Amino acid sequence: MEQIDIYHDGKEVSRVVVGDGLNLDSGLGDCLKPYSHVFVVVDRQVVTKSRAVYDLVQEFIIKAVPVKAVDVSETVKTMESVMDICSWLLDKGADRDALVLAVGGGITTDMSGFAATIYKRGVRFAYIPTTLLAQVDAAIGGKTGVNFEKYKNILGVIRQPEFTYLCPQVLESLPAREFLSGAAEMLKTFIISDGGMYDKAVAYLKAYSQDRTATLERKEVELKELITAAAAVKAGVVSRDQFEKGERRVLNLGHTFAHAIETLSQKEERMPVLNLNGKDAGMTHGEAVAVGMVMAARLADELEKSGQGLVNRIAGMFRKPEDGLAEKLVADLAACGLPSESPYSIKEMAQVMRKDKKAEGGKVHFVLPKAIGSVEVVDLTVDEVVKLLK
Ligand code: GLY
Repeated sequence: MEQIDIYHDGKEVSRVVVGDGLNLDSGLGDCLKPYSHVFVVVDRQVVTKSRAVYDLVQEFIIKAVPVKAVDVSETVKTMESVMDICSWLLDKGADRDALVLAVGGGITTDMSGFAATIYKRGVRFAYIPTTLLAQVDAAIGGKTGVNFEKYKNILGVIRQPEFTYLCPQVLESLPAREFLSGAAEMLKTFIISDGGMYDKAVAYLKAYSQDRTATLERKEVELKELITAAAAVKAGVVSRDQFEKGERRVLNLGHTFAHAIETLSQKEERMPVLNLNGKDAGMTHGEAVAVGMVMAARLADELEKSGQGLVNRIAGMFRKPEDGLAEKLVADLAACGLPSESPYSIKEMAQVMRKDKKAEGGKVHFVLPKAIGSVEVVDLTVDEVVKLLK
Protein backbone atom coordinates (compact mmCIF):
# COMPACT_ATOMS: atom_id res chain seq x y z
CA MET A 1 0.00 0.00 0.00
CA GLU A 2 1.40 3.35 -1.00
CA GLN A 3 0.52 6.63 0.70
CA ILE A 4 0.86 10.17 -0.65
CA ASP A 5 0.38 12.93 1.92
CA ILE A 6 -1.18 16.32 1.23
CA TYR A 7 0.07 19.22 3.35
CA HIS A 8 -1.05 22.71 4.21
CA ASP A 9 1.26 25.04 6.15
CA GLY A 10 3.53 22.12 6.92
CA LYS A 11 0.76 19.96 8.42
CA GLU A 12 -0.71 16.83 6.85
CA VAL A 13 -4.31 17.64 5.88
CA SER A 14 -5.23 14.63 3.77
CA ARG A 15 -3.77 11.50 2.23
CA VAL A 16 -4.13 9.46 -0.90
CA VAL A 17 -3.81 5.74 -0.31
CA VAL A 18 -3.19 3.44 -3.27
CA GLY A 19 -4.36 -0.01 -2.28
CA ASP A 20 -5.08 -3.44 -3.72
CA GLY A 21 -8.59 -4.63 -3.23
CA LEU A 22 -11.81 -3.05 -2.12
CA ASN A 23 -12.88 -5.05 0.88
CA LEU A 24 -12.70 -4.39 4.57
CA ASP A 25 -9.83 -6.88 5.00
CA SER A 26 -7.68 -4.91 2.55
CA GLY A 27 -5.90 -1.60 3.11
CA LEU A 28 -9.32 0.04 3.02
CA GLY A 29 -10.19 -1.64 6.32
CA ASP A 30 -7.03 -0.10 7.86
CA CYS A 31 -7.98 3.34 6.54
CA LEU A 32 -11.44 3.04 8.11
CA LYS A 33 -10.28 1.69 11.51
CA PRO A 34 -10.10 5.07 13.28
CA TYR A 35 -13.72 5.91 12.40
CA SER A 36 -16.50 4.34 14.45
CA HIS A 37 -19.50 5.99 12.73
CA VAL A 38 -19.28 5.57 8.98
CA PHE A 39 -22.10 6.63 6.64
CA VAL A 40 -21.72 5.45 3.05
CA VAL A 41 -23.06 7.36 0.04
CA VAL A 42 -22.69 5.31 -3.13
CA ASP A 43 -23.57 5.83 -6.79
CA ARG A 44 -26.37 3.33 -7.50
CA GLN A 45 -25.11 2.67 -11.04
CA VAL A 46 -21.67 1.74 -9.74
CA VAL A 47 -23.18 -0.82 -7.36
CA THR A 48 -24.91 -2.54 -10.27
CA LYS A 49 -21.92 -2.37 -12.63
CA SER A 50 -18.96 -3.14 -10.40
CA ARG A 51 -18.78 -6.48 -8.61
CA ALA A 52 -16.11 -5.12 -6.25
CA VAL A 53 -18.32 -2.19 -5.17
CA TYR A 54 -21.37 -4.46 -4.86
CA ASP A 55 -19.41 -6.77 -2.54
CA LEU A 56 -18.13 -3.84 -0.50
CA VAL A 57 -21.66 -2.51 -0.04
CA GLN A 58 -22.78 -5.97 1.13
CA GLU A 59 -19.95 -5.96 3.69
CA PHE A 60 -21.10 -2.57 5.00
CA ILE A 61 -24.73 -3.73 5.21
CA ILE A 62 -23.72 -6.88 7.15
CA LYS A 63 -21.81 -4.66 9.59
CA ALA A 64 -24.93 -2.43 9.97
CA VAL A 65 -23.14 0.56 8.40
CA PRO A 66 -25.82 2.88 6.91
CA VAL A 67 -25.66 3.01 3.10
CA LYS A 68 -27.43 5.49 0.84
CA ALA A 69 -27.54 4.75 -2.90
CA VAL A 70 -27.88 7.90 -4.99
CA ASP A 71 -28.73 8.48 -8.63
CA VAL A 72 -26.00 10.55 -10.13
CA SER A 73 -25.79 12.81 -13.16
CA GLU A 74 -24.63 16.33 -13.96
CA THR A 75 -28.27 17.53 -13.84
CA VAL A 76 -28.83 16.27 -10.28
CA LYS A 77 -25.53 17.70 -9.05
CA THR A 78 -27.56 20.30 -7.17
CA MET A 79 -28.19 21.74 -3.70
CA GLU A 80 -31.38 19.60 -3.58
CA SER A 81 -29.28 16.43 -3.81
CA VAL A 82 -26.89 17.76 -1.15
CA MET A 83 -29.86 18.53 1.12
CA ASP A 84 -31.19 15.03 0.46
CA ILE A 85 -27.88 13.57 1.70
CA CYS A 86 -28.05 15.87 4.76
CA SER A 87 -31.66 14.75 5.49
CA TRP A 88 -30.52 11.14 5.33
CA LEU A 89 -27.59 11.82 7.69
CA LEU A 90 -30.00 13.51 10.11
CA ASP A 91 -32.46 10.64 9.79
CA LYS A 92 -29.71 8.09 10.54
CA GLY A 93 -28.61 10.05 13.59
CA ALA A 94 -25.21 11.06 12.20
CA ASP A 95 -23.38 13.08 14.80
CA ARG A 96 -20.28 15.26 14.80
CA ASP A 97 -18.08 12.16 14.93
CA ALA A 98 -19.52 10.82 11.65
CA LEU A 99 -17.39 9.96 8.63
CA VAL A 100 -19.21 10.30 5.30
CA LEU A 101 -17.64 7.84 2.88
CA ALA A 102 -18.46 8.62 -0.76
CA VAL A 103 -18.10 5.79 -3.27
CA GLY A 104 -18.44 6.72 -6.93
CA GLY A 105 -17.21 9.14 -9.57
CA GLY A 106 -16.49 12.84 -9.25
CA ILE A 107 -20.13 13.90 -9.02
CA THR A 108 -20.74 11.56 -6.06
CA THR A 109 -17.57 12.66 -4.27
CA ASP A 110 -18.16 16.40 -4.96
CA MET A 111 -21.76 16.28 -3.68
CA SER A 112 -21.12 14.04 -0.67
CA GLY A 113 -18.03 16.02 0.32
CA PHE A 114 -20.04 19.23 0.13
CA ALA A 115 -22.88 17.74 2.21
CA ALA A 116 -20.32 16.66 4.83
CA THR A 117 -18.76 20.16 4.95
CA ILE A 118 -22.08 21.82 5.79
CA TYR A 119 -23.80 19.10 7.87
CA LYS A 120 -23.59 20.10 11.56
CA ARG A 121 -21.05 22.75 10.49
CA GLY A 122 -18.82 20.08 9.04
CA VAL A 123 -18.19 16.40 9.64
CA ARG A 124 -15.30 14.32 8.34
CA PHE A 125 -15.46 12.65 4.94
CA ALA A 126 -13.44 10.29 2.75
CA TYR A 127 -13.59 9.07 -0.82
CA ILE A 128 -13.37 5.84 -2.78
CA PRO A 129 -13.32 7.11 -6.38
CA THR A 130 -14.50 4.54 -8.90
CA THR A 131 -13.65 6.32 -12.17
CA LEU A 132 -10.20 7.07 -13.56
CA LEU A 133 -11.12 10.75 -13.75
CA ALA A 134 -11.95 10.87 -10.06
CA GLN A 135 -8.91 8.77 -9.10
CA VAL A 136 -6.42 11.10 -10.77
CA ASP A 137 -8.21 14.42 -10.35
CA ALA A 138 -11.68 15.06 -8.92
CA ALA A 139 -11.36 13.15 -5.64
CA ILE A 140 -7.95 14.63 -4.76
CA GLY A 141 -7.46 18.19 -3.57
CA GLY A 142 -10.62 18.97 -1.64
CA LYS A 143 -12.77 20.78 -4.21
CA THR A 144 -16.39 20.01 -3.31
CA GLY A 145 -19.56 21.50 -4.73
CA VAL A 146 -22.57 21.48 -7.00
CA ASN A 147 -23.88 23.18 -10.13
CA PHE A 148 -26.15 26.22 -9.74
CA GLU A 149 -28.11 28.27 -12.27
CA LYS A 150 -26.20 27.66 -15.51
CA TYR A 151 -22.80 27.24 -13.91
CA LYS A 152 -20.84 24.08 -13.17
CA ASN A 153 -19.44 23.73 -9.64
CA ILE A 154 -20.26 27.37 -8.82
CA LEU A 155 -21.34 26.58 -5.22
CA GLY A 156 -18.86 24.77 -3.05
CA VAL A 157 -15.90 24.90 -0.74
CA ILE A 158 -12.37 23.57 -0.64
CA ARG A 159 -12.03 21.18 2.28
CA GLN A 160 -9.87 18.11 2.40
CA PRO A 161 -11.14 14.53 2.75
CA GLU A 162 -9.60 12.45 5.53
CA PHE A 163 -8.32 10.13 2.82
CA THR A 164 -8.88 9.16 -0.79
CA TYR A 165 -8.55 5.41 -1.32
CA LEU A 166 -7.52 4.46 -4.86
CA CYS A 167 -8.14 0.93 -6.05
CA PRO A 168 -7.12 0.59 -9.73
CA GLN A 169 -8.87 -2.82 -10.04
CA VAL A 170 -12.27 -1.12 -9.70
CA LEU A 171 -11.68 0.53 -13.09
CA GLU A 172 -12.04 -2.81 -14.88
CA SER A 173 -15.79 -2.32 -15.08
CA LEU A 174 -15.56 1.15 -16.66
CA PRO A 175 -16.76 1.48 -20.27
CA ALA A 176 -13.84 2.33 -22.59
CA ARG A 177 -15.13 5.81 -23.35
CA GLU A 178 -15.36 6.71 -19.67
CA PHE A 179 -11.91 5.25 -18.99
CA LEU A 180 -10.42 7.32 -21.81
CA SER A 181 -12.19 10.41 -20.57
CA GLY A 182 -10.29 10.02 -17.29
CA ALA A 183 -7.14 9.23 -19.25
CA ALA A 184 -7.30 12.71 -20.80
CA GLU A 185 -7.07 14.22 -17.28
CA MET A 186 -4.19 11.88 -16.53
CA LEU A 187 -2.34 13.04 -19.67
CA LYS A 188 -3.10 16.63 -18.64
CA THR A 189 -1.40 16.02 -15.30
CA PHE A 190 1.73 14.66 -16.96
CA ILE A 191 1.83 17.48 -19.56
CA ILE A 192 1.91 19.87 -16.61
CA SER A 193 4.87 18.33 -14.87
CA ASP A 194 6.05 14.86 -15.75
CA GLY A 195 7.31 14.22 -19.28
CA GLY A 196 8.56 10.70 -18.50
CA MET A 197 5.20 9.50 -17.22
CA TYR A 198 3.46 11.18 -20.19
CA ASP A 199 5.31 8.86 -22.60
CA LYS A 200 4.46 5.83 -20.45
CA ALA A 201 0.81 6.91 -20.30
CA VAL A 202 0.59 7.32 -24.08
CA ALA A 203 2.13 3.85 -24.59
CA TYR A 204 -0.35 2.32 -22.11
CA LEU A 205 -3.34 4.08 -23.67
CA LYS A 206 -2.32 3.09 -27.21
CA ALA A 207 -2.32 -0.55 -26.08
CA TYR A 208 -5.64 -0.01 -24.26
CA SER A 209 -7.23 1.46 -27.39
CA GLN A 210 -6.12 -1.54 -29.42
CA ASP A 211 -7.09 -4.25 -26.93
CA ARG A 212 -8.84 -3.13 -23.78
CA THR A 213 -9.18 -6.48 -22.01
CA ALA A 214 -5.65 -7.74 -22.67
CA THR A 215 -4.17 -4.40 -21.58
CA LEU A 216 -6.17 -4.27 -18.34
CA GLU A 217 -5.16 -7.85 -17.54
CA ARG A 218 -1.49 -7.76 -18.55
CA LYS A 219 -0.56 -4.21 -17.63
CA GLU A 220 -2.13 -3.93 -14.19
CA VAL A 221 1.16 -2.82 -12.62
CA GLU A 222 1.63 -0.09 -15.25
CA LEU A 223 -1.84 1.30 -14.66
CA LYS A 224 -1.25 1.42 -10.93
CA GLU A 225 2.08 3.18 -11.49
CA LEU A 226 0.42 5.77 -13.76
CA ILE A 227 -2.42 6.45 -11.35
CA THR A 228 -0.02 6.75 -8.42
CA ALA A 229 2.23 9.15 -10.35
CA ALA A 230 -0.71 11.32 -11.45
CA ALA A 231 -2.08 11.39 -7.89
CA ALA A 232 1.38 12.39 -6.61
CA VAL A 233 1.61 15.30 -9.07
CA LYS A 234 -1.83 16.53 -8.05
CA ALA A 235 -1.12 16.09 -4.34
CA GLY A 236 2.09 18.11 -4.75
CA VAL A 237 0.32 20.99 -6.52
CA VAL A 238 -2.47 21.03 -3.90
CA SER A 239 0.07 20.96 -1.04
CA ARG A 240 1.76 24.05 -2.48
CA ASP A 241 -1.44 25.96 -3.33
CA GLN A 242 -4.54 24.44 -1.76
CA PHE A 243 -6.79 27.43 -2.40
CA GLU A 244 -5.85 28.07 -6.04
CA LYS A 245 -4.19 31.45 -5.60
CA GLY A 246 -1.47 30.60 -8.10
CA GLU A 247 0.15 27.30 -8.98
CA ARG A 248 -3.03 25.21 -8.71
CA ARG A 249 -4.35 27.05 -11.78
CA VAL A 250 -2.08 24.86 -13.91
CA LEU A 251 -4.51 21.98 -13.29
CA ASN A 252 -6.97 23.88 -15.47
CA LEU A 253 -4.90 23.19 -18.60
CA GLY A 254 -7.40 22.87 -21.46
CA HIS A 255 -10.37 23.52 -19.17
CA THR A 256 -11.50 26.98 -20.31
CA PHE A 257 -11.88 25.65 -23.84
CA ALA A 258 -13.31 22.37 -22.54
CA HIS A 259 -16.05 24.08 -20.52
CA ALA A 260 -17.06 26.09 -23.59
CA ILE A 261 -17.29 22.91 -25.70
CA GLU A 262 -19.27 21.08 -23.00
CA THR A 263 -21.68 23.99 -22.57
CA LEU A 264 -22.24 24.34 -26.32
CA SER A 265 -22.67 20.62 -26.89
CA GLN A 266 -25.21 20.35 -24.06
CA LYS A 267 -27.12 23.46 -25.14
CA GLU A 268 -27.50 22.58 -28.78
CA GLU A 269 -28.52 19.31 -30.22
CA ARG A 270 -25.72 19.61 -32.66
CA MET A 271 -23.43 16.62 -32.65
CA PRO A 272 -19.74 17.24 -32.11
CA VAL A 273 -17.90 15.90 -35.14
CA LEU A 274 -15.28 13.90 -33.33
CA ASN A 275 -16.86 11.90 -30.58
CA LEU A 276 -15.48 8.44 -30.06
CA ASN A 277 -18.15 6.07 -31.23
CA GLY A 278 -20.25 8.38 -33.37
CA LYS A 279 -23.41 7.56 -31.42
CA ASP A 280 -23.63 9.83 -28.39
CA ALA A 281 -24.33 13.49 -28.77
CA GLY A 282 -22.03 15.70 -26.75
CA MET A 283 -18.50 15.19 -25.55
CA THR A 284 -17.44 13.77 -22.24
CA HIS A 285 -15.50 16.09 -19.95
CA GLY A 286 -12.22 14.33 -20.67
CA GLU A 287 -12.74 14.41 -24.44
CA ALA A 288 -13.38 18.15 -24.22
CA VAL A 289 -10.23 18.54 -22.09
CA ALA A 290 -8.24 16.67 -24.76
CA VAL A 291 -9.47 19.14 -27.40
CA GLY A 292 -8.85 22.03 -25.00
CA MET A 293 -5.23 21.01 -24.46
CA VAL A 294 -4.57 21.05 -28.20
CA MET A 295 -6.22 24.48 -28.47
CA ALA A 296 -4.02 25.70 -25.61
CA ALA A 297 -0.91 24.40 -27.42
CA ARG A 298 -2.01 26.18 -30.61
CA LEU A 299 -2.64 29.33 -28.60
CA ALA A 300 0.89 29.15 -27.18
CA ASP A 301 2.26 28.88 -30.72
CA GLU A 302 0.20 31.77 -32.05
CA LEU A 303 1.02 33.94 -29.07
CA GLU A 304 4.71 33.44 -29.69
CA LYS A 305 4.29 34.12 -33.42
CA SER A 306 2.27 37.29 -32.73
CA GLY A 307 5.60 39.03 -32.13
CA GLN A 308 5.53 42.51 -30.69
CA GLY A 309 1.88 43.16 -29.83
CA LEU A 310 0.67 40.69 -27.26
CA VAL A 311 3.98 39.24 -26.24
CA ASN A 312 5.09 42.72 -25.20
CA ARG A 313 2.10 43.12 -22.91
CA ILE A 314 2.97 39.95 -21.06
CA ALA A 315 6.68 40.66 -21.40
CA GLY A 316 9.12 38.59 -19.48
CA MET A 317 6.64 35.79 -18.84
CA PHE A 318 6.32 34.08 -22.13
CA ARG A 319 8.94 31.68 -23.44
CA LYS A 320 8.88 30.01 -26.85
CA PRO A 321 6.94 26.73 -26.89
CA GLU A 322 8.64 23.60 -28.23
CA ASP A 323 8.33 23.30 -32.05
CA GLY A 324 5.55 21.00 -33.21
CA LEU A 325 4.05 20.53 -29.74
CA ALA A 326 0.43 20.93 -30.88
CA GLU A 327 0.95 18.42 -33.71
CA LYS A 328 2.57 15.94 -31.32
CA LEU A 329 -0.42 16.22 -28.98
CA VAL A 330 -2.86 15.68 -31.86
CA ALA A 331 -1.01 12.51 -32.95
CA ASP A 332 -0.72 11.15 -29.40
CA LEU A 333 -4.38 11.81 -28.57
CA ALA A 334 -5.50 10.13 -31.81
CA ALA A 335 -3.36 7.07 -30.99
CA CYS A 336 -4.99 6.90 -27.55
CA GLY A 337 -8.50 7.14 -29.05
CA LEU A 338 -9.13 10.72 -27.96
CA PRO A 339 -10.36 13.64 -30.08
CA SER A 340 -8.40 16.82 -30.74
CA GLU A 341 -10.62 19.07 -32.87
CA SER A 342 -13.38 21.30 -31.54
CA PRO A 343 -16.72 20.95 -33.29
CA TYR A 344 -17.31 24.65 -32.58
CA SER A 345 -15.68 27.76 -33.99
CA ILE A 346 -13.57 29.89 -31.68
CA LYS A 347 -16.20 32.65 -32.01
CA GLU A 348 -18.95 30.34 -30.73
CA MET A 349 -16.71 29.21 -27.89
CA ALA A 350 -15.78 32.79 -27.03
CA GLN A 351 -19.40 33.64 -26.21
CA VAL A 352 -19.35 31.01 -23.47
CA MET A 353 -15.78 31.75 -22.34
CA ARG A 354 -16.71 35.38 -21.63
CA LYS A 355 -19.13 34.08 -18.98
CA ASP A 356 -16.66 31.59 -17.47
CA LYS A 357 -16.65 31.80 -13.68
CA LYS A 358 -12.86 31.80 -13.74
CA ALA A 359 -12.65 35.03 -15.79
CA GLU A 360 -11.30 37.81 -13.56
CA GLY A 361 -11.60 41.45 -14.64
CA GLY A 362 -12.28 40.41 -18.23
CA LYS A 363 -9.13 38.27 -18.35
CA VAL A 364 -8.84 34.52 -18.17
CA HIS A 365 -5.82 32.64 -16.82
CA PHE A 366 -4.88 30.47 -19.81
CA VAL A 367 -2.56 27.57 -19.09
CA LEU A 368 -0.26 27.16 -22.08
CA PRO A 369 1.91 24.08 -22.63
CA LYS A 370 5.53 24.91 -23.52
CA ALA A 371 6.79 21.34 -23.73
CA ILE A 372 5.64 17.99 -22.40
CA GLY A 373 6.16 18.45 -18.67
CA SER A 374 6.08 22.25 -18.61
CA VAL A 375 3.31 24.88 -18.75
CA GLU A 376 2.99 28.61 -18.22
CA VAL A 377 -0.05 30.61 -17.09
CA VAL A 378 -0.78 33.72 -19.14
CA ASP A 379 -3.64 36.18 -18.62
CA LEU A 380 -5.45 36.97 -21.84
CA THR A 381 -8.79 38.49 -22.72
CA VAL A 382 -11.19 36.31 -24.67
CA ASP A 383 -10.97 38.82 -27.56
CA GLU A 384 -7.21 38.34 -27.71
CA VAL A 385 -7.68 34.57 -27.82
CA VAL A 386 -10.23 34.87 -30.64
CA LYS A 387 -7.80 37.01 -32.63
CA LEU A 388 -4.97 34.52 -32.16
CA LEU A 389 -6.97 31.35 -32.91
CA LYS A 390 -9.27 32.53 -35.69
N1 GLY B 1 -9.60 19.74 -11.02
C1 GLY B 1 -8.72 20.82 -10.81
C2 GLY B 1 -8.38 21.07 -9.38
O1 GLY B 1 -8.67 20.25 -8.53
O2 GLY B 1 -7.84 22.09 -9.05
